[in-house]
Amino acid sequence: MKIVTALDLHPAARQLLESLGELIGPEGIEGHLGEADALLAPLTFRVDEALLEQTPRLRVVASAAVGYDNVAVDACHRRGIIVTNTPDVLTDATADLTMALLLATVRRLPQAERSLRAGDFEGWGFWDYLGGDVTGATLGILGMGRIGQAVARRARAFGMRIQYTNRSPVAADVERELGARYVPWETLLTSSDILSLHAPASAETRHLLTREALARMRPGSYLINTARGTLIDEAALVEALQNGPLAGAGLDVYEREPAVEPGLLELDNVVMLPHIGSATRNTREGMAMLAARNIHAVLTGAEPLTPV
Ligand code: DGY
Repeated sequence: MKIVTALDLHPAARQLLESLGELIGPEGIEGHLGEADALLAPLTFRVDEALLEQTPRLRVVASAAVGYDNVAVDACHRRGIIVTNTPDVLTDATADLTMALLLATVRRLPQAERSLRAGDFEGWGFWDYLGGDVTGATLGILGMGRIGQAVARRARAFGMRIQYTNRSPVAADVERELGARYVPWETLLTSSDILSLHAPASAETRHLLTREALARMRPGSYLINTARGTLIDEAALVEALQNGPLAGAGLDVYEREPAVEPGLLELDNVVMLPHIGSATRNTREGMAMLAARNIHAVLTGAEPLTPV
């Protein structure tokens, strides 16, 4: 059996895959795609029609991410190739990062730190470094899946009021536990003090935050995105941050990664991170291991653990 990995794996994941046969990669995988039975891919690796043309033996694509917009899932399924992703193992890390980004954005932490490092801190100032309020704010969550729910749980502890939009309402007992209220998208957009995005990238969610949608957001509100950059029209976001209605934005993901809309880099009211939502050692090892376990399951004739 030949397993090709486009991701540099930690020893435990390598060991599991080596127990199945020959493990190739991440260097020099190009020459081996033709004999690959399994492919392990990070989210920066595109599995498209052109790649699938080169992989006639492939039985499984294990994506080491929860989002799988880099994989042509339908094309894989048409060829009988199983696709798997890595849900659950990254939920807490991503929700933690979302809260960190939300707090940093609303309380303007990076701006305050930059000012201190620049030597501008001249002692405690009553009216200096003022941010917005988190406690008591209405948090709008778009996408009440695993990560959206984990964010709601954390936000509740911060005394936030939680409303959400989802394909359909979550179960009543989950709503009760989260203290969350289901509202239509238009209500979420126009009445949230802070809007946090947790929906996958798809044709349906592309530019959900258009120029017009951004203009309808509450004056002085904040937009947080730890999901996928394509949900927001980034050029329009620059205008909404410059001219209102937005007071600020916290971004971990971008429309054309690794490129960032140049206008965003000029603005002081946006906090930007380099797509680190799941970046803790345990989480990344958990993601790599789950991807390896999915390959192990498929190649040993068992059911994949987390199929897409
Ligand atoms: C994912 O898994 O989809 C994240 O964007 C990276 O952890």
